[in-house]
Amino acid sequence: MIAGNRTINYLRISVTDRCNFRCRYCVPASPFTVIEHEKIARYEEILRITRLGCELGITKVRITGGEPFVRKGIFSFLEQLCRLDALQDISITTNGALLTREKIKALIQMGIRRLNFSLDTLDPVKFFAITGRDRYHRVWDSIMTAHDLGISPIKINAVALRGFNDDEICAIAGLTKKYPFHIRFIEYMPMGDSDIERQQQILTREIHARIEATLGPLIPMEREYNDGPAKKFKLSNARGVVGFITPISSHFCSECNRLRLTSRGTLRPCLLNDYEQDILSPLRAGASDHQLKSIIESTLTHKPLFHSLNDPKAKNIPISHMNSIGG
Ligand code: 5AD
Ligand code: SF4
Repeated sequence: MIAGNRTINYLRISVTDRCNFRCRYCVPASPFTVIEHEKIARYEEILRITRLGCELGITKVRITGGEPFVRKGIFSFLEQLCRLDALQDISITTNGALLTREKIKALIQMGIRRLNFSLDTLDPVKFFAITGRDRYHRVWDSIMTAHDLGISPIKINAVALRGFNDDEICAIAGLTKKYPFHIRFIEYMPMGDSDIERQQQILTREIHARIEATLGPLIPMEREYNDGPAKKFKLSNARGVVGFITPISSHFCSECNRLRLTSRGTLRPCLLNDYEQDILSPLRAGASDHQLKSIIESTLTHKPLFHSLNDPKAKNIPISHMNSIGG
């Protein structure tokens, strides 16, 4: 599928809006409700939409949430997903809190070799402050177990926030000296009514400079085919990679190859724009494969060429929070 001059081969599937964490940059500041069960796409419905997506050129899938592992039956769903021949690459974004050695082994057995964790701090007290949960050690153990079992690459997403974890930027980047992890600093995206202040946002150039000042030069790496939006660097003698995801300071919309399926069964051509098309209702009303494929294709005609998050006038655009779209 083509949108503008972009080939769309990547589907991000949010399997649930629920999460066992309450990260302050992700969930709304005001009370929110979760989606009722009947309104959530069932696994067989997600599989059908994915299969049709594959017929239109999807080859890569990422499973997100909320937290994917809070949804019942996730392992048998993943097994079925892994049986779709057209998919060359299946990965999962998780907070890691529910992963055990047995579960990671099960993922490897079915062919899932890549995991993205979220970890913004190496300090258990701050971990509690940002996620609302006392689970730092649990998460760190999951990351170590995944490493031990050979999951590769292990990507770790960290949202840098001034006055919160900016004093840890070098310690976090420094993990790449010891471990072959891809640490990715993500610029905070102000979404909906999050209680993070805009002044807490730290842009990549500052993070980059702070790392170089303490840990030495960041050597740029060649972009590889199918690389995501992260700009990748290496510290000298490092085993891992330091990446920057820059939705604010330099948007990568012109290279974006993604389509999103939310847990409510809507298709979104862009994370940072509330345009979406309902595919679940037509599916439940008996639409044919052909009709569903037209919905997928027509969604992509709405894929914007750029977003306006960093337009100061646009700061109150009521875009949905990550927990409901899947980051
Ligand atoms: N800005 C930037 N990144 C965010 N994430 C969630 N909310 C935001 C936000 N407002 C990231 C988390 C997580 C991934 C799923 O999305 O770091 O790793
Ligand atoms: Fe849950 Fe991830 Fe959002 Fe944190 S960032 S609340 S772990 S979905």
